Amino acid sequence: MDSYINSSSFFKNNNPEELAEKYGTPLYVYNEEILRSRMRAVAGVITKYPYTANYSIKANTNIHILKLALEEGLNCDAMSVGEITMLLKSGFPKERIFFVPNNVSDEELSFAIEKEIMTSLDSLSQLERFGRLNPGGRCAVRINPGVGAGHSEKVVTGGKKTKFGIAEEDIDKIFGIAEEYSLKIAGINQHIGSLFMSPEPYLEAVKNILRIAERFEGLEFIDFGGGYGIPYHKLDDEAPYPIDEFREALEPILTDFVERYGYAPLFKSEPGRYCVAEGSVILGRVNAIKQNAGKKYAGCDIGMNVLVRPSMYGSWHDVEVIRNGKVVSRDDLSEITVVGNICESGDILAKERMLPEIKEEDLVCILDTGAYGYSMCSTYNSRPRPAEVMVKKDGSVELIRRRETIEDLMTLF
Ligand SMILES: Cc1ncc(COP(=O)(O)O)c(C=O)c1O
Repeated sequence: MDSYINSSSFFKNNNPEELAEKYGTPLYVYNEEILRSRMRAVAGVITKYPYTANYSIKANTNIHILKLALEEGLNCDAMSVGEITMLLKSGFPKERIFFVPNNVSDEELSFAIEKEIMTSLDSLSQLERFGRLNPGGRCAVRINPGVGAGHSEKVVTGGKKTKFGIAEEDIDKIFGIAEEYSLKIAGINQHIGSLFMSPEPYLEAVKNILRIAERFEGLEFIDFGGGYGIPYHKLDDEAPYPIDEFREALEPILTDFVERYGYAPLFKSEPGRYCVAEGSVILGRVNAIKQNAGKKYAGCDIGMNVLVRPSMYGSWHDVEVIRNGKVVSRDDLSEITVVGNICESGDILAKERMLPEIKEEDLVCILDTGAYGYSMCSTYNSRPRPAEVMVKKDGSVELIRRRETIEDLMTLF
């Protein structure tokens, strides 16, 4: 693909240079249509049985994006009191929120109990804590399925080497605690990890949790977790996650289970990245071009405080170059490393990339930044967090989060 920006008409009738001038850089730019289309795709993964796709809002908690998820019929999962509060604020009723925290305090659990939000406990110790706080209550437990998958060891959340979930061998202890506190285990959930491009590991994990589910009587729901990938190498024509093929392979597995279990509980999934990643780019201004020990660098204002994925996980994000409002063609490429403005040698956005020539004052446009982008931003080096704008269906542009200011940072002292 020569240009994702052009082929998806990402900015619609807006000139990216004008957006950068009006709102400043670095700037998160979202595309409403792309966000809605991905949300719709996950909402339709299971049609034969009762199903809800829970958007995992850790990927992106902007309230305007949560409202899109609400309109597209998604439920949501939350990891913290902050995320629950964002969801309530954006209009989600309590029944559409699933709290899947780990290692939380009495205070945090009590908040969810008081708000009547279904909560999953991810260890025996947390289950006991919940039981003490809410005897006779209903809850879910997170199972560690013993298998994991993901793009980096840091995002594999199932399997023996991770902190998450309750191991299969401890299931009898779940029943013991439930009995002691008269708890109803209404559901079980899992999440094996993040960003796989083939459905196989997830399908295996589904079979596994369905096998485990048979040990639980009267389940109201079973949640298979998220993790569906998106093509981060789209400029090299990487294929998208085969969601139709996945859907077709999933259905007979569910049918098989429903026949054995006697009825179909509500099935759930928890996709985060898939819903939002491709619906955003970051525009950044190139402030310096330099040569160090024979290597060429483009220095821009998108530091690791604005997008941490490349430095944290070694993640790849495609980069397009924009000059005078137009995408520079990729016909003529040469090697360059794109870096940010943070005082860390790991502050690298794109290492030794083949890119069109980059000049000072160009814009770099970092693709696929809607998931774990802004939600992982920091104020490291006392840099205020960027603004976010949304290109709406009708082409109008709305500021959906103002740029943080240095005064904002000072208010905490
Ligand atoms: C419990 C849980 N559910 C869902 C997700 C969403 O994963 P993804 O964004 O890869 O779909 C995560 C991500 O870390 C998670 O920890």
